[in-house]
Amino acid sequence: MTHDTLTITDNRTNQTYTLPIENGTVRALEFRQIKAYPEDFGLMTYDPAFMNTASCQSSITVIEGERGILQYRGYPIEVLAEHCTFLEIAYLLLFGDLPNETELKNWVSEITHHTMLHETTKKFMEGFRYDAHPMAMLVSTVAALSTVYPEAGNIHDPSNRLLQIKRLTGKMPSIAAMSYRHNLGFPYVYPDNDLSYSENFMNMLWKMVEPKYVANPVLAHALDILFILHADHEQNCSANVMRSVGSAHADPYLTTAAAAAALSGPLHGGANEEVLKMLDEIGSRENVPGYVKKVKEGHGKLMGFGHRIYKNHDPRAKIMKWTADQVFEVTGRNPKLDIALELERIALEDEYFIKRKLYPNVDFYSGIIYQAMGFKPEMFTVLFAIPRTVGWLAQWQEMFLQPEQKIARPRQIYTGHKARPFLALERRAPGGTRKD
Ligand SMILES: CC(C)(COP(=O)(O)OP(=O)(O)OC[C@H]1O[C@@H](n2cnc3c(N)ncnc32)[C@H](O)[C@@H]1OP(=O)(O)O)[C@@H](O)C(=O)NCCC(=O)NCCS
Repeated sequence: MTHDTLTITDNRTNQTYTLPIENGTVRALEFRQIKAYPEDFGLMTYDPAFMNTASCQSSITVIEGERGILQYRGYPIEVLAEHCTFLEIAYLLLFGDLPNETELKNWVSEITHHTMLHETTKKFMEGFRYDAHPMAMLVSTVAALSTVYPEAGNIHDPSNRLLQIKRLTGKMPSIAAMSYRHNLGFPYVYPDNDLSYSENFMNMLWKMVEPKYVANPVLAHALDILFILHADHEQNCSANVMRSVGSAHADPYLTTAAAAAALSGPLHGGANEEVLKMLDEIGSRENVPGYVKKVKEGHGKLMGFGHRIYKNHDPRAKIMKWTADQVFEVTGRNPKLDIALELERIALEDEYFIKRKLYPNVDFYSGIIYQAMGFKPEMFTVLFAIPRTVGWLAQWQEMFLQPEQKIARPRQIYTGHKARPFLALERRAPGGTRKD
């Protein structure tokens, strides 16, 4: 007979407690009843970096790391990448089910009609230095949208929330394209409503003086697939920021900017930029064994390798490789691919990487594709942020609908001074000591 409970004996008191197990978890607050003495605060759990803590209940995305499975709302990522457009996936993530034809038509039309940016946003963008990092421009400009839409602060109104979700989904490619053209010194291009989401993004990136931009269909499809693969990834660092900042009821523009700031870090979305720097540093296939040796000796990491959750393979990396082949048919082969393939081959046969379950992740190939398309590495995380905004918004919206959600506020283990006497300024010596 099985019992969905956990029985613990506190050896300090010899007292036994039985805690309920729900969905393979024990509520951390249950531990609070375990006290060494009556005034004791109660036991807490200690989990830096959330290695083994579920912070919410979610029905959006699931990853089974040991089996290399990623599903959005129950659909495997491979099937979605093969059959859907990015805006279909956005609908799926935000509303829970795939749209039918009418729903999709309306959704595409609504997002398309939210791609324009207010002219003041353009002026704001013009204020950045000519060589500003595009990700820093994107983060700041998304935050600045809060000044354009002050009503966004009314986060308790579901229809108002939905309006901001549509605006952010529609405007992210426009902001991303502006940050790209700002670095090049080119004038910004307005959206074209005749084009699909990714075609329009290409239009805003690359249109010059031609009256109508015509996107290469293979590249547009590849971008759409890349957007699908990056749309959500359950409780990753930036999604956690989105929920955490959102739990304080900040408006969705400021909250999304905070999540995008987290994404910019080299251990998160910034990794694809680091992969390209690493491949540049390696320089040629012959140098790969020496580079791997250095990594094994503790000098740096193989960027684009390893994942907190995937411990078998990252299913997105396989689709990424297929997409790379399609893109190279149009752009010509990126010579970095040879270094990357050699790196993957050597690492996957090496005991160090096998033992630690380190496999190429989504970022390993995305940078090579983006570079072949003509993007500089600084743009890579911006390209990640466009689709991930939909994932963040889905997580944000879900958070509001959970009755037990409160402001996110972890506990700590205090390791500082016990209360100590205050010293007046004239009596203080260096290092917090007294003069006399
Ligand atoms: C993604 C990442 C942050 C996950 O980190 P994590 O779950 O905390 O894993 P850890 O840092 O505990 O790593 C476990 C072991 O593998 C090693 N390791 C992890 N990633 C490695 C990498 N990319 N190259 C070499 N060694 C690596 C660690 O040094 C550690 O070794 P040890 O047990 O001898 O100390 C980490 O793998 C990483 O930094 N990868 C490179 C950056 C990257 O590609 N990020 C994109 C993620 S989608």
